[in-house]
Order: sequence, then C-alpha cells, then structure tokens
Amino acid sequence: MPPAPGPDLIAIPGPSPVPARVLAAAHRASPDIYADELAQLNLQVMDQLKRLAGTRAHLAPYIGNGHAGWEAASANMFAPGDLALVLTHGHFGRSWAEMTEGLGVTVERLDFGAAAPDPARLAERLARDPEGRIRAVMVCQTDTATATLADIPALRAAMGDHPALLVVDAIASLGCAPMKMDEWGVDVLIAASQKGLMTLPGTVFVWFSDKAAARGRTALTSPWWDWHLRAQSDALWRWWGGTPPVQQIYALAEALTMILDEEGLEAVWRRHARLAQATWAAVDAWGTAGAVRLSVAEAAARAPAVTAVTLPGADALRAWTVRECGVTLGVGLGAPDPTGALRIAHMGHCNAGVLLGTLGAIEAGLTALDIPHGRGALEAAAASIARSA
Ligand SMILES: Cc1ncc(COP(=O)(O)O)c(C=O)c1O
Repeated sequence: MPPAPGPDLIAIPGPSPVPARVLAAAHRASPDIYADELAQLNLQVMDQLKRLAGTRAHLAPYIGNGHAGWEAASANMFAPGDLALVLTHGHFGRSWAEMTEGLGVTVERLDFGAAAPDPARLAERLARDPEGRIRAVMVCQTDTATATLADIPALRAAMGDHPALLVVDAIASLGCAPMKMDEWGVDVLIAASQKGLMTLPGTVFVWFSDKAAARGRTALTSPWWDWHLRAQSDALWRWWGGTPPVQQIYALAEALTMILDEEGLEAVWRRHARLAQATWAAVDAWGTAGAVRLSVAEAAARAPAVTAVTLPGADALRAWTVRECGVTLGVGLGAPDPTGALRIAHMGHCNAGVLLGTLGAIEAGLTALDIPHGRGALEAAAASIARSA
C-alpha cells in the first residue's frame, strides 16, 4: 500500500531525514580528488567532527556503516584473546558484543536488560579484576532499540583507575545528546553519518585518545582498518583508505556547518531534549487509559533522540499512519513483543512542527483502530513545546 499522497514524515531512528541543503550539497560531480580544494574541505570536516565529539584527540574516518565502525575500533584496540567487557542495554549492545566475539576477542557481558547500565555494577565487576585483564569497557550511549541513555560520566567515574579503555558507541546519540569526549574521559568514540549527523548513510568515524593510540598495532589491525594510517595522513586518499567518498564530504561539511556554526551544538542538544519531552508528555497522556506506555520508566534514562513505546496493536497502527497520513514510525526492534511496540524518532533534522504532525498521526490512528488510550496527548505535547520555547 503506497503512503498517503503529500510529503512523508519519516520518524524512524535512522537513517534520519536529510535536509534538502545537505542533499543539494552532495548533488554534484566529483572534482579532481588530487586537487587542494577537496583535501582542504576534508580537513575542515575532520575538524568539525572533533568539535562535534568534544575532543582534540585523533580521528579515523571510514567508508561504511555503524557495524564497520565497530570493527574498525576493535581491530585497533584488541589482540585476539583479549578480554572485553560489554555493557548491554538493548539489541545493539548485544550485536556489538557478538561481532567483537567474532573477531576472536573474549567478550564478557554485563546485561542490564532494557534499563540504563548501572555504574555500581560496573564498579563491582572491575573491582574483581585487580590484574587489569579487562582491556576495554564498551557501551552504547543510546541503545536505539530500547531508547535508553547511558550516563557516560557516571560509568567513567565507576571505572576509577582501572586501566581499561572506555569505548562508547554514539551512533544514535552524537549530535542529539551531549558528548564531551575529552572532558568525560572517553577513550574511543564511534558514530556514523546517518542519524544525528543528518547525512546520508555510508561513512563512520572513530575518535581515539592518546591512551588508545598507545596500544599500537595487533594481529587484528589490517592496513585498511589501521586507525594510525588514517589519522596521521597528509594525503586525502589515506584518510579514507582509497578513493574518498567525495559527495559525502560535501554533505558532511554542510550538515556539520548547520549543527555547529548555525544552530550551535548546545542549541541542538536543547532542541532534542525539547522534542523528547513533548513526545513523553503525549505518551503519558495516552497512557492514562489503556495500555500505552513509555517503555523506559525513568526519565533520566530516556534517550533524547528516540522514544520507545509499548502499544498493543502497534503493527496495525504503524501501517495505518503510513497509509492514511504518510507518517512512518519505527518498528519495535528488540521489544519483548515487537508487534506491540514502536519507536518514535526525533533525531537530527526534526522540529516541533514535524514532531507534532507525527504525534497527531498516532492520535488519529489510535482513534481509528479503537486502541484504548487517554485523551489530551496533543494538548500535552503542544503545552510542553510552548513551555520550553
Ligand atoms: C546504537 C547503534 N549502534 C550500531 C548500529 C549499527 O549501525 P549500522 O546499521 O549503520 O551498521 C546502530 C544502527 O541503528 C545503532 O543504532
């Protein structure tokens, strides 16, 4: 069934909508990749990406998706047989653990179900590792499936003086939730282009500290993954391990200028918080009758980029909002009953108008499908937007 005619709203948690300006920037023929213009633009993008992550550390870009970023980081951090501790709070942390294991790394999981990782449990585990066998603590800042937000400074504090690297997957949080890599003591950060960065899928970035760089090369560090070769390069092709993703570089430059130099990073974080709070207000109102619920009960543990909702009849509702309103909602990925759960993305190129349209489509669908729900959700969301203006 085709979506309703008219503009569509895509409220899935990635790839997120790409601004027309960013698409237009990418829409051009490749210049001479050996000329200075593109090399200079690439340096500008690398500098912007460091500002985005709050770091002066090293940065290695790769052509690839988030999974490629995971492998890039692991290929540089670990030797086969090393021990990694993965804090899992959803589908993506669990996949990351599996992929790391597939590289021959020994993986121990600290599973938090669908709750944000508890720093006390991390501290307790590390206290039982006086020899420092654990080489890295790995955690998603936002697990996009559960829509939970990990408290990275609290996890860093819980590590005390344990020598493990702190490795953060910020794929669903960079450009949405605060990230201060250097101030917070994050050693390795991974993020991709297609969510908070408002750019097409296809590039991924690994930022790494001096401490991580000092690990040197291991049997896993093939020349293509080697982050040293990229981060220290003086030639454009070396940054990317071959032909650079020319159009992506133009797109990234435009998107990062919008984020950092036009709106401003703190304002971007505030906008995400504002949209998230309006979404939570709507879901809370729906939940006053029937069984619609925010999947993450504790507000501090909710991600600002995406909201997970437990909603009986979610599959039918998702089909209805596409067909009747042109609004696409995220699937209930990893939920105990995925047919009774959905996710509302408010990440990247999103504003109150788009969000209120999305929430209005959900309200209409709940009514049309006779899914029991409380009244006043749109008023609650609008009031939240009004209060936070
Ligand atoms: C937190 C997180 N990590 C990793 C990934 C995997 O990224 P990709 O699908 O681009 O490989 C995703 C994808 O949505 C994600 O949300």
